[in-house]
This record gives sequence, structure tokens and C-alpha cells, in this order.
Amino acid sequence: MTEIRTPRLLLRRWLADDLVPLSEIHADPAVMQGIGDGKPRSLEQTAEDIETWEEEWDEEGFGMFAVEFLGSGELAGAVGLSVAEAPVEVAGQVAIGWRLGRVFWGQGYASEAAHATLEFALQDRGLDRVVAVCRTGDRASVNVLDKLGMQTEATVQPPGHDYDLAVFGIDLTQYQG
Ligand SMILES: CC(C)(COP(=O)(O)OP(=O)(O)OC[C@H]1O[C@@H](n2cnc3c(N)ncnc32)[C@H](O)[C@@H]1OP(=O)(O)O)[C@@H](O)C(=O)NCCC(=O)NCCS
Repeated sequence: MTEIRTPRLLLRRWLADDLVPLSEIHADPAVMQGIGDGKPRSLEQTAEDIETWEEEWDEEGFGMFAVEFLGSGELAGAVGLSVAEAPVEVAGQVAIGWRLGRVFWGQGYASEAAHATLEFALQDRGLDRVVAVCRTGDRASVNVLDKLGMQTEATVQPPGHDYDLAVFGIDLTQYQG
């Protein structure tokens, strides 16, 4: 079973007990406004997400991690990897992503988990490239991406949407650890 310990966090695969705390995080419009269709997700939708992430772990050897606080065991959110489906510019590439409960923002937890995830992708899994996609106005995510050393590669407007997406990438050759 893949697990990563950082100074404050345990990154691990998903357990049945994660469903309720993750669905509470998914119920917060502020957390979800920049993810997918921008709407909060129900308990049932959250269960589907966990199932999808676990399938990806089984099939690809990577996926979204459950992010747990060392010590308390409380679930902070999800940070990890997935094969991007959209936008078309990155479809099929491995993307890093994150969502933490609002009460956990502004304390460096997202960056701590994201650094460990990027190292896992490029050094443990042997991927030679990781991308990320976020809305251009998502300053918190852009800040995390800057700290990861990921570079803006393109700005794209998804068809039928009124916002732009920033595409970031990092190659193994650029990775500084
Ligand atoms: C995006 C998201 C995960 C970022 O979380 P975050 O807490 O802002 O990010 P970080 O972990 O980098 O923490 C940021 C701040 O914590 C502060 N901080 C406090 N203690 C810290 C510590 N020990 N170490 C590092 N930073 C610390 C710093 O001020 C840091 O800001 P700085 O980089 O400007 O110095 C969070 O806003 C979120 O879940 N948003 C909703 C979901 C979402 O939009 N996901 C992306 C879709 S593309």
C-alpha cells in the first residue's frame, strides 16, 4: 500500500471512513468553485469520486491521496495525481491537483502534500512530466504551483465556459526537488 509521510501529514489510499469527512469538504461551495463544474458535490457523488480514484490507483499505480493529519488522523482533504480528461491541450497527461477543507487553508498543508506528491510522481513513479490546470484567477492554486516550480505553459478557454484555464507543467529535467 502506498503511503507517504511528510512532517505533518500522512498521504494514503482511501478508506471507508473517509466518505463522510470528504463529503463535508465537498459540500462547501468555496472549496468546489474552481473544481469540475464548480458545484458542491453530494455524498453519493463523493462516493463515486473515491471509487474513481481507487480504480485509478489500481490501474495506473498513482491517484489522489487521502491527506490525513499525523496524530489526530483527521482528514484534511485530497491531493494527488490523475490522468487529465480536459482541456484537450493536456488530455491524457498526468495532472496534480488538490482540495482541502476550508479550515485547513493558509497553513502550508496543501504545499506540503503537493511537494510530496510531485516527488512521488517524478522520482518514485518515474513519470517524466506532470501538468496542472487551474482557473486563471485561482490565486491560492497558482501560489502552490509557483512554490512547486511549475511553469505556466498556456492559457486556454474551455468551449462553453466564461473563464480561462491556466495550464502548468514541469518536466523531470526541470525538477529541483
Ligand atoms: C488551493 C488550496 C489547496 C491552497 O491551499 P493553501 O492553504 O492556500 O496553500 P498552502 O499550503 O501553500 O498554504 C498557503 C499559506 O500558508 C501559510 N503557512 C502557514 N504555515 C505554514 C507552514 N508551516 N508552511 C508553509 N506555509 C505556511 C503561508 O502563508 C502560505 O502562503 P505563502 O505561500 O504565500 O507564504 C486551497 O485553497 C483549496 O483547497 N482551495 C479549494 C480547492 C481548489 O480550488 N483546488 C484547485 C482546483 S484547480
